[in-house]
Amino acid sequence: MNRFENKVAIITGAASGIGEATTARLRSEGGTVVGIDRDPINDVDMAIQLDLLDLDAIKPAVSQVVNAYGRIDVLCNIAGIGHFARDEDETLEAWNRIIGVNLTGTFFMSQACLPHLFESQGCIVNTASTAGTNAQPWSSAYSASKGGVIALTQTMASTNGRSGIRVNCIAPGGVETEIYKQFMPPEDVDLTLIAIMEPFHRPAQASELAAAFAFLASDDASYCNGIVLRVDGGTKA
Ligand SMILES: NC(=O)c1ccc[n+]([C@@H]2O[C@H](COP(=O)([O-])OP(=O)(O)OC[C@H]3O[C@@H](n4cnc5c(N)ncnc54)[C@H](O)[C@@H]3O)[C@@H](O)[C@H]2O)c1
Repeated sequence: MNRFENKVAIITGAASGIGEATTARLRSEGGTVVGIDRDPINDVDMAIQLDLLDLDAIKPAVSQVVNAYGRIDVLCNIAGIGHFARDEDETLEAWNRIIGVNLTGTFFMSQACLPHLFESQGCIVNTASTAGTNAQPWSSAYSASKGGVIALTQTMASTNGRSGIRVNCIAPGGVETEIYKQFMPPEDVDLTLIAIMEPFHRPAQASELAAAFAFLASDDASYCNGIVLRVDGGTKA
């Protein structure tokens, strides 16, 4: 398949996990991929190292892409962070950081790309989570950010659909990536709640998520707009 031939995609979170796998997948299908991450990125056509909490850096980064390639066809907002915290212990700093990367970063990346996506009749694929579709213990900030991504996706899809662009999101369940290290259960909590998060039979590999991102980012999904595609092996079925 060469679904991304002559297309330029921006992928945030491209240095690791699902973003890295999606970068490889789109490139393997002929796409030119610009990776954005706070960490160094390998195996990409252009790497832009930036912290999505630095909102002033977003528009210049998008301009850099347009100056280099003249177009943007796909934006995959994949960068994300999270943690477990007891509600009583959550801090404003951590709350703002999680909402800032996962939700605010997703919106302002999208806003900066919109004019170019209107021009190319392109699309956006956001990253929610089953923590945004269903309960996940000790995850109020993370779940709120991912629920926000779902609402944002649906709203932007409906607002901008008539202009010819599509906005969808993927809600992964458990995926074997580095993000797991950020989710350490707080002390003195009821650990039986972990059962809510257990994958159906096995966690996903990042490449299995990349396949779903590639589908929604491609013309194969030309009539998908505003959808939340759960990719969780049936955990929340
Ligand atoms: N792995 C899972 O089980 C799982 C489940 C549901 C949803 N998700 C979501 O999938 C997405 C990808 O996560 P992953 O599992 O690949 O984790 P990961 O930690 O491997 O990758 C996340 C990437 O985002 C980047 N990033 C984080 N904060 C950033 C910032 N401020 N600015 C720029 N880049 C930043 C990191 O450097 C990293 O490269 C996230 O949005 C995550 O919430 C993951």
